[in-house]
Amino acid sequence: METVCNNIKHVAVIMDGNGRWAKKRAHPRVWGHVRGSAVVSHIVQEADDLGVEALTMYAFSSENWSRPQTEVKVLFNLLYKFLKKERVRILKNNIKFRIMGDISNLPAQTRGLIAQLESETAEHTGLKLTFAFGYGGRAEIAYAVNRYMAANPGKEITEEDISNFMMIPELGDVDLLIRTGGDHRVSNFMLWQIAYAEMFFTETKWPDFTVVEFRYILEQVSKRERRFGAVAPVENLKTNVEVARLNQRILRG
Ligand code: FPP
Repeated sequence: METVCNNIKHVAVIMDGNGRWAKKRAHPRVWGHVRGSAVVSHIVQEADDLGVEALTMYAFSSENWSRPQTEVKVLFNLLYKFLKKERVRILKNNIKFRIMGDISNLPAQTRGLIAQLESETAEHTGLKLTFAFGYGGRAEIAYAVNRYMAANPGKEITEEDISNFMMIPELGDVDLLIRTGGDHRVSNFMLWQIAYAEMFFTETKWPDFTVVEFRYILEQVSKRERRFGAVAPVENLKTNVEVARLNQRILRG
């Protein structure tokens, strides 16, 4: 396992550009998803090799429900095939697999496979591989607040509480958000967790994205100075919050 990216522990990826990639080649949009799903396997392997701790991939947003039924079905099918094909490798590589989002509308067979793989890998200590599926960032924040309020009626909610009540709290903050496909937006992805993330937008359409570019992005971004609102580089957000609290106490006298 390599450590080219010590300060990048959690990478989130918006895999965009599949439709345009296919259209440019006079293929139906879904062909782009098919080619894109092969890229997913390569990037998972590379993230694992590079020693990334968590990789969260946006595979199907809550807004994607409005796409044509045939396209939605293809995306479901690709998830199913990925789980079937990659299960052994996931188990062998100590990867912890999770789905984040509302999957109640997926076929029972796919939900069964997901439940099986999540339970088989629950104690794994390697790469945390999460697919956001049927996921929306605003919905996740509402989910966290509602769960907190149900457990703590009448109590004021803090930032820490929201983090602790997210769908998968152990994922924590995102260090790097990569978006392929040329658009510069976050599209409702992990809105809470990307507060201090570094952003990298590439023109490359997802089916053309390679492990070489992935590694290049991590290397480039790991050289960036992260200050989390301070004036000098700070190791992480937690350190900065502690320093800020100390300063406030001193200044209060
Ligand atoms: C955005 O491209 C991409 C998606 C909506 C789905 C991403 C899914 C995959 C890469 C394959 C799924 C694989 C697994 C393993 C779950 P777009 O269609 O919006 O592209 P466009 O912006 O060019 O139209």
